[in-house]
Amino acid sequence: MNTKTVSELLTQDVTLQQVSVKGWVRTFRANRFIALNDGSTINNIQCVVDFENFDEALLKRITTGAALHISGDLVESQGKGQKVEIVVSTIEVLGDSDAETYPIQPKKHSFEFLRENAHLRTRTNTFSAVMRVKSSLSFAIHKYFTENGFYNMHTPIITGSDAEGAGEMFRISSLDPKNPPLTDEGDIDYSQDFFGKETNLTVSGQLEAETYAMSLGKVYTFGPTFRAENSNTSRHLAEFWMVEPEVAFMDLAGNMDLAEDFMKSVISYVLEHNKEDLEFLDERLFNEEKSKPQAQRSEMRLTEKLKFVTDNNFKRVSYTEAIDILRNSKPNKKKKFKYLINEWGADLQSEHERFLVEKHFKCPVILFDYPANIKAFYMRLNDDEKTVRAMDVLFPGIGEIVGGSQREERLEVLKEKMAELDIPEEELWWYLDLRKYGTAVHSGFGLGFERLVMFATGMSNIRDVIPYPRTPQNAEF
Ligand code: 4AD
Ligand code: MG
Repeated sequence: MNTKTVSELLTQDVTLQQVSVKGWVRTFRANRFIALNDGSTINNIQCVVDFENFDEALLKRITTGAALHISGDLVESQGKGQKVEIVVSTIEVLGDSDAETYPIQPKKHSFEFLRENAHLRTRTNTFSAVMRVKSSLSFAIHKYFTENGFYNMHTPIITGSDAEGAGEMFRISSLDPKNPPLTDEGDIDYSQDFFGKETNLTVSGQLEAETYAMSLGKVYTFGPTFRAENSNTSRHLAEFWMVEPEVAFMDLAGNMDLAEDFMKSVISYVLEHNKEDLEFLDERLFNEEKSKPQAQRSEMRLTEKLKFVTDNNFKRVSYTEAIDILRNSKPNKKKKFKYLINEWGADLQSEHERFLVEKHFKCPVILFDYPANIKAFYMRLNDDEKTVRAMDVLFPGIGEIVGGSQREERLEVLKEKMAELDIPEEELWWYLDLRKYGTAVHSGFGLGFERLVMFATGMSNIRDVIPYPRTPQNAEF
């Protein structure tokens, strides 16, 4: 007998004799109706049991969370809510579930509680839907780049350089922490460490991606990145995944076009391929919004928001224009912002980004040409010598979702900038080589993958879109 997934059974348009399915019990009602789910779809298959045909001892073992192998006939459903159901002929309990202690009861649980039970939370509709959408987005990303002539590369996870220059890195070492070798000056002697130098977990694959762009033309890396910043917010993780394309001979305008086209493409993909999950998440968000005060409610439903992104142009605004808008904005004048915008040069906080996107422009925004001194060393200096060719893509509800730039391709300008920031040339000799041998205009960006998943699923905490979040004081599982 052919074992099928719940998804396969529910999309059958004919009834079948003797089907078999394996999954976990969501509910068992009235000693008669088993709702079984196997993760293949948000929907359960209803399995109808005639209790007179089964041992009472067996029926007692059909508890929420138990793993079952069920066989029977697939028939048109008598009841409402499902097209087909299984009339059960045999039940095999593959794994019992202790009903007393099973954490995922058939009722509403708080996300905080489910975070503590992250190993079981994908047995709920919300988390299984989020993770299926996430898997689709990941596929859509690889599909987009492959179809557009990009090569995928794996940049190293252990690195000797600090790409962002922010110094928020996790050290990698195999030295004995209790008794590390010391130099004559009393510092830790990393020359005796595993790699013979100080190494860290990478914060970005960009610098290595640039080396491949300057030979393969169009490349992207999609991998884990790590930041030891102590940001305990709903949008920051210490371990997150970043998608980083890098393209030779492309300037900042091309970079913005690429980012916009790419984001629209992957969001369209899930709109088309994850309809049922998105419908569920749309409804979930709508109900959550209903419990908020009117003023804080989102004006759009989830799927509307996604379509809004795919159907509208992203507004391109220079940093200078944005500062003018913010300086004259109501929340700035009424001192409602936590960080008031007084002058040009201020770094933008998420409250400012969200004001621009949600209140002022009411559409995704690409901010570009930021002040040089609030951005990383590798960004292309503009002729005004004050701003760099940086861009951030800002999304409603999220704020910054993409950060990128045109890269400084002029050797002398790059060296000067590194000297200014005390970045040793010996550390990045290979990066400087790119500017010596066939340098060219090139650009790229980084998309925070979990932030994209937040946007696509309407989840408001980044801890709920990654299986096992790593955040300050938390590395459980
Ligand atoms: O803006 P960031 O720091 O840019 C870079 O790392 C560049 N090297 C990328 C490039 O040009 N190739 O990070 C890029 C994106 C951010 O826009 C944000 O979406 C996400 O990565 N991000 C985080 N996501 C979750 N948790 C964190 N702590 C994040 N920090 C950045
Ligand atoms: Mg950034």
